[in-house]
Amino acid sequence: CGIVGYVGPQSALDVVVAGLKRLEYRGYDSAGVAVLADGGLAAAKKAGKLVNLEKELGDRPLPTGTTGIGHTRWATHGAPTDANAHPHLDNAGRVAVVHNGIIENFAVLRAELEERGHTLASETDTEVVAHLLAEEFSVTADLAEAMRLVCGRLEGAFTLVAVHADAPDVVVGARRNSPLVVGVGDGEAFLASDVAAFIAHTRSAIELGQDQVVELRRDRVTVTGFDGRPADVRTFHVDWDVSAAEKGGYDYFMLKEIAEQPKAVADTLLGRIDAAGSLCLDELRISAAELREVDKVVIVACGTAFHAGLIAKYAIEHWTRIPCEVELASEFRYRDPILDPRTLVVAISQSGETMDTLMALRHAREQGSKVLAICNTNGSTIPRESDAVLYTHAGPEVAVASTKAFLTQLVACYLVALYLGQVRGTKWGDEVGAVIRDLSKISHEVERVLRTMEPVRELARTLAGKNTVLFLGRHVGYPVALEGALKLKELAYMHAEGFAAGELKHGPIALIEEDLPVVVVVPSPRGRSVLHDKIVSNIQEIRARGARTIVIAEEGDEAVVPYADHLIRIPVTPTLLQPLVATVPLQVFACELATARGNEVDQPRNLAKSVTVE
Ligand code: G6P
Repeated sequence: CGIVGYVGPQSALDVVVAGLKRLEYRGYDSAGVAVLADGGLAAAKKAGKLVNLEKELGDRPLPTGTTGIGHTRWATHGAPTDANAHPHLDNAGRVAVVHNGIIENFAVLRAELEERGHTLASETDTEVVAHLLAEEFSVTADLAEAMRLVCGRLEGAFTLVAVHADAPDVVVGARRNSPLVVGVGDGEAFLASDVAAFIAHTRSAIELGQDQVVELRRDRVTVTGFDGRPADVRTFHVDWDVSAAEKGGYDYFMLKEIAEQPKAVADTLLGRIDAAGSLCLDELRISAAELREVDKVVIVACGTAFHAGLIAKYAIEHWTRIPCEVELASEFRYRDPILDPRTLVVAISQSGETMDTLMALRHAREQGSKVLAICNTNGSTIPRESDAVLYTHAGPEVAVASTKAFLTQLVACYLVALYLGQVRGTKWGDEVGAVIRDLSKISHEVERVLRTMEPVRELARTLAGKNTVLFLGRHVGYPVALEGALKLKELAYMHAEGFAAGELKHGPIALIEEDLPVVVVVPSPRGRSVLHDKIVSNIQEIRARGARTIVIAEEGDEAVVPYADHLIRIPVTPTLLQPLVATVPLQVFACELATARGNEVDQPRNLAKSVTVE
């Protein structure tokens, strides 16, 4: 969910609504705001996207005030209705609270409140907090202190922001797990789940740590622990500006982000390969001696980041000969995985806030393993809690479906794999030297792919009426197929499955029917040519059964031509790096199909970019 708070001289409603617009990618089931004005509190909330709330505010304007909070929701407890939207108020309508996360003991707290005569209006866990805050404030007359007392009674993961009509010019926030960042302006202060919400006003920010409460006044920001002790704060400067968080002439953020991939890839490599072709990753915060001790790598991630992990396994095992496992973060800790201090756990996350991944890394550290985060968001929770971090430099990714972050995750994984090889003295064959040279040039190849995408868009438009698309690949092409299918599910809401091409004959081939579109990612015919020949046979098998074959193959690969109903060419690339170019047409394909089907590209139904619940 997205949270914004403001106190200062400007109209709080204007600042908060503009901030929510920038956070809409975090959830868009419903939205709401509350402002302090004329000695009271006024609130509005609406199910559906932010435009519904804006319309409501146009029809029934709120009084103008200079202290306010707002929220966009990704529903957990309760359906996305007006009543369940945030903010939630106490019975007297003096306190307003917005919340991100799940309060696990809310049923007990709710029963206690009802016994004390409170009437709760919604099904949400958040409303309980509004009532508890009202009770504590009536005793302490200090909103920050009331928040600390309430937090002491809450179980689960939560980030809360509140205002009280009897505490004008004060916004209070509390953080456990999901992110909360303070923006420090001149005579004004901001609070948000992401700096994007206030980047138009200030680039000076403070990240709140775990179990901290912040009190915002116009000229003062006070941070304490839940126990009331003053906390150390770290102010940082946001190194991108408002233009990075805007569409810049594109119809959708996703189109902009796809187009930014060559730069994102180049930026992620920048300064990490020296003139002699060696890797310099001193920034890692993990010593070469520690890396030499590693005897197993375990990668944990979710969604698209998980697919980056699947590809990384091929690179790590091939280049370093260290065994590597890849696991969905949400499954990891529940099966009691075998971990010890010699296991290097790599947590991949664009946002750095995904709860499943965070919980997996905490579990790994509890078992004594070292955790290396690959992350795109500076200062977010996952890198903060990891032993080491390698940042991807994709810049802010706003569209819910991940594109440029994925490509940079791949680059970071290759760097980690090569670096592990380098520090451990794995025999540097010609292949590795060549790979580093190819990696340095790869952003130009991505650029070249982007220039040839018009036929892919045309093809996508002709398939808008289909219900199912299958994706096949072998070796690293298999995770690419999974990613192509995921993109199509997310964006086009079509039934899409990715399969290992060799597994086809063991079941999925029964799905093939006349004119069913099947996308096949073909490995390079050079090098591992056995793989290539096998997949050419697979294409023939499905074509013989009526499939419409959409073949992604290297320039110059003539063997596939007779069996391709549609042929998409990608540049000649070493097999392990091929996902960097092969994924791009699949992103464009899904984006165009979504548009042709009239779907929201940047904000697909039911999804959120950053999922901060388990
Ligand atoms: C959500 C998003 C996906 C993303 C996944 C992991 O489900 O909708 O696009 O891949 O989270 O996100 P992360 O920020 O950890 O990479």
